[in-house]
Amino acid sequence: MVANGVEDAAGKSPDESLPLDSDQMMHSRLGNDLIIKLHILMKVSQIYDQKNVALNQVAQGLLELINHFLKSEGSLALKVIRDGIFINEKRLKVGVDSYIGFKFVLEQLKKKRVGEIRICEILDEKMLKELIYHMMNLSDGDEDNAGKLQDGLNQLGIKSIEVDPLEIFEEDEFFGGHKNPKEAGKRLFFETIGFIKEAVTGIKKNQFIDARKLKRMCQGAVNLMVKDESILLGLTTIKNYDEYTFNHCVNVAIYSLAIGRRLGFSKKTLTELGMTGLLHDIGKAKIPKEIINKPDKLDDDEWRLMKEHPMTGVEMMLKIKQLGEMSPKMAIGVFEHHLNCDLTGYPKPIRKKDLTLFGRIIKIADCYDAMTTPRVYRNKTFRPEQALAIMVREKNGFDPILLKVFIGIVGIYPIGSLVLLDTNEMGVVYETNSDPQYINRPKVILISQSEGRRKIGPAVDLKEMDGENKSYKRGIAKALDPKKYHVNILEHFL
Ligand SMILES: [Fe+2]
Ligand SMILES: [Fe+2]
Repeated sequence: MVANGVEDAAGKSPDESLPLDSDQMMHSRLGNDLIIKLHILMKVSQIYDQKNVALNQVAQGLLELINHFLKSEGSLALKVIRDGIFINEKRLKVGVDSYIGFKFVLEQLKKKRVGEIRICEILDEKMLKELIYHMMNLSDGDEDNAGKLQDGLNQLGIKSIEVDPLEIFEEDEFFGGHKNPKEAGKRLFFETIGFIKEAVTGIKKNQFIDARKLKRMCQGAVNLMVKDESILLGLTTIKNYDEYTFNHCVNVAIYSLAIGRRLGFSKKTLTELGMTGLLHDIGKAKIPKEIINKPDKLDDDEWRLMKEHPMTGVEMMLKIKQLGEMSPKMAIGVFEHHLNCDLTGYPKPIRKKDLTLFGRIIKIADCYDAMTTPRVYRNKTFRPEQALAIMVREKNGFDPILLKVFIGIVGIYPIGSLVLLDTNEMGVVYETNSDPQYINRPKVILISQSEGRRKIGPAVDLKEMDGENKSYKRGIAKALDPKKYHVNILEHFL
């Protein structure tokens, strides 16, 4: 239970041990009351229209409180900073009774991107209702909302209310409010899969892709990638058979980001690259499911249709409403993702020109993920090291330097590989070694069997040396097939 009290705007309590003086107590009690009434009015506004009488009593109660603040403190400013609400610069300490209301109001203001509402003169009921209805009707996540709300009120001649946008703190935005990057990674990963699924379903119904949302997700992924690439790379081991297309797009984006990061791309370019990865197969949304999932070989007509997906994808990208969020290199990357470096592959390039960097990166990420994912029409799935070996042998397909960079990222034993160590222990690779010299010495979680029970851990670094003999304590003897050993790799990353 949290006692009622106040804190200053920096979020520090004046002195927790000191009892609150009567002014502070009054401020806090009124603040909690205000939030409770605001919560009710916001809720009711979602059910009834503005003229409904059910609203009057709730609005009156809130109005009395607002006007009380104006009389006693001169003005009323309600401000959101991170996860706190400040009333006239004092952080509201939430009481038990107002907790649900507080959560709701905070969430709504954050969603609507409204950071501060200042009331400088006495309001009447109509003005208050206009404020609430205008605000609740704003679309979620739009950075221009505060301006739109202010304009709406100004047009109605309401000059006593001022609105400011929400201040976004980098880490809140990029980690979705999660302090733990691993949690943030998981959430972002699954949210992005959901977004791609929605986008594909929307395209089938001729809806547009929300490029801004896509960009925000990619910015989140870029920030996580820069912080710790193993988090997102670990999640690519999720090979979801049912949701293949969506899962595949997210994995391609992650691998591409990892390559782009090693190449020293700026955050802006990385975001564009991530968006290209997410959208690379979007053209498949127009191909019937029966063809995409056909277990047998495609006939000529079906194959022709399949080969159209890069070009269809480009056309779809050009139809995106917020075209300003897209760049030509993204569309070219999508166009090129099935072309080889010698320009064989599909679709036929318009000019005999080298593939772009985006195209070459997406191609590597795309092939690797496709080869290592079980598919309905292929009974053989390649283990990571097998897929990499095939790609290296494919002379004209991939950019050899980028492929080397990629192998450096995923390692000879990529994250998620099940390996047998020379100590006869079994383990799952959970972090590759960034130093190319130690490409075959990743970090591994040991898996052992004792008394019929599987024991997970500890985690060991294969770079670790034995002090006496000056040799490595452990090394990888060979990769194992997880299915054969009934190891669910995924459980080590979730
Ligand atoms: Fe494709
Ligand atoms: Fe693909």
